[in-house]
Amino acid sequence: MDLSAMYKISYGLFVLSAKNSSKQNGCIVNTVMQVTSTPNRIVVAVNKNNFTHDMIVASKEFNVSMLSTSVPFEVFKHFGFQSGKDVNKFENFNHKIANNGIAYLDKNTTAYLSAKVVSITDLGTHSLFLADVTDGAKLSDEDSVTYDYYQKNIKPKPNAKPKKTVWRCKICGYEYEGEELPADFICPLCKHPASDFEKIEA
Ligand SMILES: Cc1cc2nc3c(=O)[nH]c(=O)nc-3n(C[C@H](O)[C@H](O)[C@H](O)COP(=O)(O)O)c2cc1C
Repeated sequence: MDLSAMYKISYGLFVLSAKNSSKQNGCIVNTVMQVTSTPNRIVVAVNKNNFTHDMIVASKEFNVSMLSTSVPFEVFKHFGFQSGKDVNKFENFNHKIANNGIAYLDKNTTAYLSAKVVSITDLGTHSLFLADVTDGAKLSDEDSVTYDYYQKNIKPKPNAKPKKTVWRCKICGYEYEGEELPADFICPLCKHPASDFEKIEA
C-alpha cells in the first residue's frame, strides 16, 4: 500500500507524564484522543520501551500536557529524544504539580488533563491506555500544536544532501548511514520503525 496515506491522519502533540515513588517523568506522544464524553474518557498508545509506560502500568495515573504552537524544538528533544531511565527530565524543567501529584507543563501549553487508567490493551509494541479524565484546566488561548505544524514549522530542516547515502527518520530527523536500512530498524531517538525512514542518496 501507499504508506504516505498514513501521514494524512492528523494528530496533536503532548507531553504524557507520570511518576513513581522517586521520580516524575514524561515523554512526547501524538496518540492522545478523547473517545467518549459520558464518561469523559481518553486513550493514549505508549511504546512498551518507554519509562513513562512502566510508570503508568504501575500507578494507573497520568497527566497530558497539550503543547501549543509556541513550543520550541528543545521541548521535543528534552521529552522525546531521551529516556527517564537515563535522566531526570523534570529536575531542571519548569513545571507544576497537579492534584494527582503528577507534573505537567504550564508553559508552551494550552491545557492539561489528569486521568486514571480504566483498562490496558496489549497492542504488541505498545499498550493502549483507556482512562477516565479526573481533572484538568485550560492554560492559554494559543492554538494547540498539530503533528503537521511540528513537521512544517518546529522540526529543524534537514541539512543539504549528505556525502554518503543515509536513511533519515521522517519523524525526528535522525540519520542512519548505509546503503540499506535493516527492515527491523527502530529509530534510537523517537523509536519509530524503518517504514518512517526516507533514503537520501549521496
Ligand atoms: C514527535 C514525536 C512523537 C512521538 N509519539 C510517541 C507516541 O505516540 N507514543 C510513544 O510511545 N512514543 C512516542 N514518541 C517517542 C517518545 O517520546 C520517546 O521514546 C521518549 O524518549 C520516551 O521517554 P521515556 O523513556 O522517558 O518515557 C514520540 C516522539 C516524538 C519526537
